[in-house]
Amino acid sequence: MAKTLITGATGNIGFQVIRFLLQTKTSNQIIAGVRNIDKAKLIFQDHQNLEFVRFDLGDPNTYDEALEDVDKIFLLRPPQITDINRYFRPFILRIRNRKILKLVFLSVQGADRSKIIPHYKIEQLIKSQNLNYIFLRPSYFMQNLTTTLYQDIKTKRQIILPAGKAKFNWIDINNIGEVAAFVLNNFEAHSNRVYDITGLENKSFYEVTQLINSEISNNIIYKSVNPIHFLILKMKAGMSFGKTMVLIILHYLPRFQKEPKISNNYEVLMGKEPTTLQSFIEREKKLFED
Ligand SMILES: NC(=O)c1ccc[n+]([C@@H]2O[C@H](COP(=O)([O-])OP(=O)(O)OC[C@H]3O[C@@H](n4cnc5c(N)ncnc54)[C@H](OP(=O)(O)O)[C@@H]3O)[C@@H](O)[C@H]2O)c1
Repeated sequence: MAKTLITGATGNIGFQVIRFLLQTKTSNQIIAGVRNIDKAKLIFQDHQNLEFVRFDLGDPNTYDEALEDVDKIFLLRPPQITDINRYFRPFILRIRNRKILKLVFLSVQGADRSKIIPHYKIEQLIKSQNLNYIFLRPSYFMQNLTTTLYQDIKTKRQIILPAGKAKFNWIDINNIGEVAAFVLNNFEAHSNRVYDITGLENKSFYEVTQLINSEISNNIIYKSVNPIHFLILKMKAGMSFGKTMVLIILHYLPRFQKEPKISNNYEVLMGKEPTTLQSFIEREKKLFED
């Protein structure tokens, strides 16, 4: 039986892709490519019909077993990986050599406009190897509020960022996973297409904080700080320099850019509207209340 390999399976998006794939009828066996099989089995303990294989982008010895009988791949860039030549080139070449031609890559909105971001380099690499690709370019994850930014919300009742009044487009990772599963299952119809996946709202952190506070009693505040102040705060709190810089780039640069473009791709592909911020906040209300 042909197999579909899902990378980043234990993370935000990979988990959702697998969840949606297992809900749909697919002729392919779904394989989670993970660095630690025992940890992954715990994460997916409620999911039947899922196989696991060891896969580490940093260890080419894991590639062949992970690619055995695979004809489609969902690929993402783990956030800590920036050296594309070292980590992605060998894997993409191995895919090409094994004649696996169908690849869905999780990129990022605006990847085509910035040649320095890793996603741009990965997109170019995939194209240069003549693979059939589908690039998904999502906007800003709503779930950043419940992951990366959650520690400050929980312990300080604050969102602290150098984002000023910049507007972000907010997308639910469930919507991204759903689209990824859909295009994996209908690859030929979407082959060599690029899809921005956005929500319908561009909102600043001031506006999002207000929305959250309208649902909870223990209010949170949004504090915009300058990038240097942010760097000092985060380094003192033990965050690595690299991760802090990524957060600064992600949240400070939008202050000088145009508002994100809103796309209707989700609606066109899935036949319904993407999650609104209001319904996301209602869904996750308990986390924000605590
Ligand atoms: N946050 C946003 O708003 C946003 C918006 C648009 C695009 N994106 C993009 O989305 C991507 C991140 O997706 P995500 O949030 O799902 O990531 P995530 O939750 O941080 O998960 C990363 C996954 O990659 C795996 N991984 C780490 N190192 C690996 C390696 N060496 N080899 C193989 N797998 C490895 C991790 O597995 P382990 O369990 O082994 O650690 C985990 O499953 C990034 O490329 C980011 O730029 C993010």
